[in-house]
Amino acid sequence: MTPTGRGGRIVGWGVALPDAVVTNAALEARLDTTDAWISERTGIRERRIGGTTTGLAVDAGRRALEHAGLDGADIDAVVLATTTPDQVMPQSAATVQDALGVVGGAFDVNAACSGFVYGLITTHGLLALGMRRVLLIGAETLSRITDWEDRNTAVLFADGAGAVVIESTPGPGALVAWDLGSDGATRHLIESDHGGFLQMEGKEVFRRAVRVIVDSTQATLERAGCTADDVSLVVPHQANIRIIEAACARLGIPMERTVNVLDRTGNTSAASIPIGLADALDAGRIHDGDRVLLVGFGAGMAWASALLEWGRS
Ligand code: ACO
Repeated sequence: MTPTGRGGRIVGWGVALPDAVVTNAALEARLDTTDAWISERTGIRERRIGGTTTGLAVDAGRRALEHAGLDGADIDAVVLATTTPDQVMPQSAATVQDALGVVGGAFDVNAACSGFVYGLITTHGLLALGMRRVLLIGAETLSRITDWEDRNTAVLFADGAGAVVIESTPGPGALVAWDLGSDGATRHLIESDHGGFLQMEGKEVFRRAVRVIVDSTQATLERAGCTADDVSLVVPHQANIRIIEAACARLGIPMERTVNVLDRTGNTSAASIPIGLADALDAGRIHDGDRVLLVGFGAGMAWASALLEWGRS
């Protein structure tokens, strides 16, 4: 393959959620918490729990391929964003590659809740270097690293996967501008050791999350030569509705121009943005010419944003 400098556009998408629904009421029955606290403080009403990261990734990936009218042989690489791989090795993307019959590269990206947007930017690098199509997936089984006795985290995290097929385009493609970063000095704020549970300093993460969403969005918009008024829809990482409200208020973006799947899915880390994007696409909320902002933040603390101009090739 030789570098082409070509761009990319999303030509298919799919989602996979486990069947089992865990409502706030179910958590209320076994933890010192209430449905009212969870709904008001986080915006979450229920979440899906179950499956494996690779199983969910394969299901979402297969749906994205079907949606695009393609099969595995049409794909040059599987890029899987996940914080919860099924094994330390091999990379979970290898299982997905095998299950979907992809004949090409396969690797995982771990940038926690920003992983899908990191993967999106990486994918555009692969397309610019000559790949034709990449299957990009965000998939998580956070329930496996959640302490179900800890009300601080058990009410937040869940499982799921979202996938997109990104195809090389003759022109600049849909990605208008992007920003990514990480502040490794704050990595202690969200962490999970091998075999351990996810620990988080929720209040401090909240404060920093609002700040990095605003800063990263402003950096991307500035690079794109746009303002917040030009953004048709924001697909933010789905962690807490109050984080999204606070960041959007500072950016001057009304909540009607944001995607919210959090109430049904909880925080699915790297899967939350592709699940939200697919939800908006399926609901007919995105049209050619729309500018769609994806913005993620999370452990690391890493952040990433990307502005897509839908339909641009
Ligand atoms: N049910 C009932 N009460 C609770 C619960 C619960 N589940 N959890 C905490 N409380 C109590 C606290 O003990 C505290 O009680 P007190 O006032 O008597 O001391 C009170 O509620 C307020 O607690 P806070 O921690 O101040 O609650 P806050 O409003 O900050 O909400 C939350 C906590 C939801 C965790 C919030 O801080 C948050 O969303 N943080 C960001 C999380 C995030 O965005 N993570 C993203 C990255 S995740 C990743 O990278 C994988």
